[in-house]
Amino acid sequence: PLVTTTEMFKKAYDGGYAVGAFNVNNMEIIQGITEAAGELKAPVILQVSKGARAYANHTYLVKLVEAAVIENPEIPIALHLDHGDSFELCKSCIDGGFTSVMIDASSKPYEENIALTRKVVEYAHDHGVVVEAELGTLAGVEDEVSVDADKAMYTHPEEVVDFATRTGCDSLAIAIGTSHGAYKFKPGTKPQLRFDVLEECAKQLPGFPIVLHGSSSVPQEFVAEINKYGGNMPGAIGIPEEQLRQAARSAVCKINIDSDIRLAMTAVIRKYFAEHPDHFDPRQYLKPARQAVKDMVAHKIVDVLGCNGK
Ligand code: G3H
Ligand code: 13P
Ligand code: NA
Ligand code: ZN
Repeated sequence: PLVTTTEMFKKAYDGGYAVGAFNVNNMEIIQGITEAAGELKAPVILQVSKGARAYANHTYLVKLVEAAVIENPEIPIALHLDHGDSFELCKSCIDGGFTSVMIDASSKPYEENIALTRKVVEYAHDHGVVVEAELGTLAGVEDEVSVDADKAMYTHPEEVVDFATRTGCDSLAIAIGTSHGAYKFKPGTKPQLRFDVLEECAKQLPGFPIVLHGSSSVPQEFVAEINKYGGNMPGAIGIPEEQLRQAARSAVCKINIDSDIRLAMTAVIRKYFAEHPDHFDPRQYLKPARQAVKDMVAHKIVDVLGCNGK
């Protein structure tokens, strides 16, 4: 069924695992993710960014997710707005069938973040929808305004109780060294999440679900395949899966993955085009691309998140 994340997060918190939140933009991505989750009896969060909504259209995405819910009746599926940047965008998704929204006012001053998040929470809770908020700034060499990993604004643990209490948010994304995109760290540097910051935040907010953004691992076999078949992605690096496993065992209940979906599809399609220059039916290359999404998500569910059979 289509559900909020409330029950999923409670079970994940108590069970020491995390639920995967995968970004969706089209039918093949939705099918690949939910076929994997359905077969593995795993709860799953399908998340739509502002850009995804602009690309595919709100109604198309909602109807595709509704189809996935019908096709996978045994698993809980949440439909979540990723990185909502305004009250109006959040309201539009709340009114339009989403079960969860993120209001990301983390780049605003602290009091403005609280005020906007509070406003979204009031509207969302009145409509049975849950809210993810963010405190702290993610690093990332891909961001428009480049934030070096060493200058990242890690979440201040001393702020999380005040923020959660005054906003009433249902989950909190924190900055502990993850970052968006396929180039998370400078080549040669050793990726290391700040588990001390995570633990301090979790200690301040016992029982409260923590969210990690920017958690693709950028599998090197995908990068190698892309580069082998005409791509050019030197130095693409992600979060080591062992660190994601450690996070999943903690208060982290939601782990966001988008870039790994993009890499899986691109690697397969580049290879397909190189090997079949005469093919031109999109089904021929989108079928293995969808399968690659399914295989990647199955691996995350079983080997990283630990949410299979939950
Ligand atoms: O955190 C951002 C997600 O990866 C979505 O990316 O805004 O390009 O759809 P997008
Ligand atoms: P990645 O770029 O690491 O996949 O992060 C996705 C994300 O955080 C979506 O909100
Ligand atoms: Na967890
Ligand atoms: Zn994100």
